[in-house]
Amino acid sequence: DKGGWSSFMAKEVSEQPEAIANTIRGRLQDGQVVIPELDGLDDLFVGINRVIITACGTASYAALVGKYAIEQWARVPVDVELAHEFRYRDPVIGDDTLVVSISQSGETMDTLMAVKYARERGARTLSICNTQGATIPRESDAVVYTHAGPEVAVASTKAFSAQITALLLLGLHMGRVRGTVADASTDVAELQALPDKIARVLNEEQEHVAQLARWMADTRSVLFLGRHVGYPIALEGALKLKEISYIHAEGFAAGELKHGPIALIEPGQPVFVLVPSPRHSALVHSKVVSNIQEIRARGARVIVVAEEGDAAVLPYADEVIHIPLAGAMFEPVLAVVPLQIFAMALATAKGLDVDQPRNLAKSVTVE
Ligand code: F6R
Repeated sequence: DKGGWSSFMAKEVSEQPEAIANTIRGRLQDGQVVIPELDGLDDLFVGINRVIITACGTASYAALVGKYAIEQWARVPVDVELAHEFRYRDPVIGDDTLVVSISQSGETMDTLMAVKYARERGARTLSICNTQGATIPRESDAVVYTHAGPEVAVASTKAFSAQITALLLLGLHMGRVRGTVADASTDVAELQALPDKIARVLNEEQEHVAQLARWMADTRSVLFLGRHVGYPIALEGALKLKEISYIHAEGFAAGELKHGPIALIEPGQPVFVLVPSPRHSALVHSKVVSNIQEIRARGARVIVVAEEGDAAVLPYADEVIHIPLAGAMFEPVLAVVPLQIFAMALATAKGLDVDQPRNLAKSVTVE
């Protein structure tokens, strides 16, 4: 039931404040993150030397955000690997490795096979899943559910933001258990504030972004740039657009620009740039601003997603989409929302069915 929404995707995008609140609920205790399902499983986190996060598609972009968060908080090296690549080589894994899998459906065959393979090789396994009792969590040593509620639209939205949230929780939980996070009170406050901040993005930017998408209905290609945790969001913004509006789109790490992709920039080329807050790192922020100057000088049409009050981007942006202030690791959950709205509005402007894009299935149960 679409509950009055024009599509399941529109409904699910709008449900994100609630989805994130549900993912966090019951997992915060006295200024710390304590995931009750992981009670008694400290050995999954203290006896390991590395983490591999494996997933496909959108879930693999959540994984990339998770890499930054887990490394920062739990001080353990993290690699992200697409499940279908992981399984068909000879990865160096063993009982010192925690393999974290991420899957909305919990039934993706590529991811399931990667989990089974990891277990056979003696690795510890933990899954992040949105579907209670699905196959992947049953094949794993532990599971952290995302609680985003059923996702019907083929293009993943609320499950993605809930996956990132679950990874942030996992990173803080692991950091506490490993003794690398002594005081999580600031991060806990950031987590608690996320649902309201997402609601603000929805309320304040929905119409603006939808209007932008309608203007751009004839666009043939869109690029997305991001740095740090904005990089996976650039990849996700491009994937959403490909999936439902059938427009060629690519996401890049902003720092890669001069190593190749800048050759694509010609007058009128739309480029979304995810600008990290200058409060997190003035250096990283200034690098992204100079990337914007470089593409603007070559005629790109620059659409910036930036923190409210970031005046540095204004002189070089054709459009600015604002997100509320948030800690560095928490920004992706906010920054992805306008990109979801953009893809949805553009597909709608083209008269496409946003819930059932051509050639795609919600759950890919074949390898
Ligand atoms: C993107 C999308 C796919 C899935 C991928 C993994 O919108 O829906 O890229 O994210 O097929 O699916 P799950 O998470 O069910 O394993």
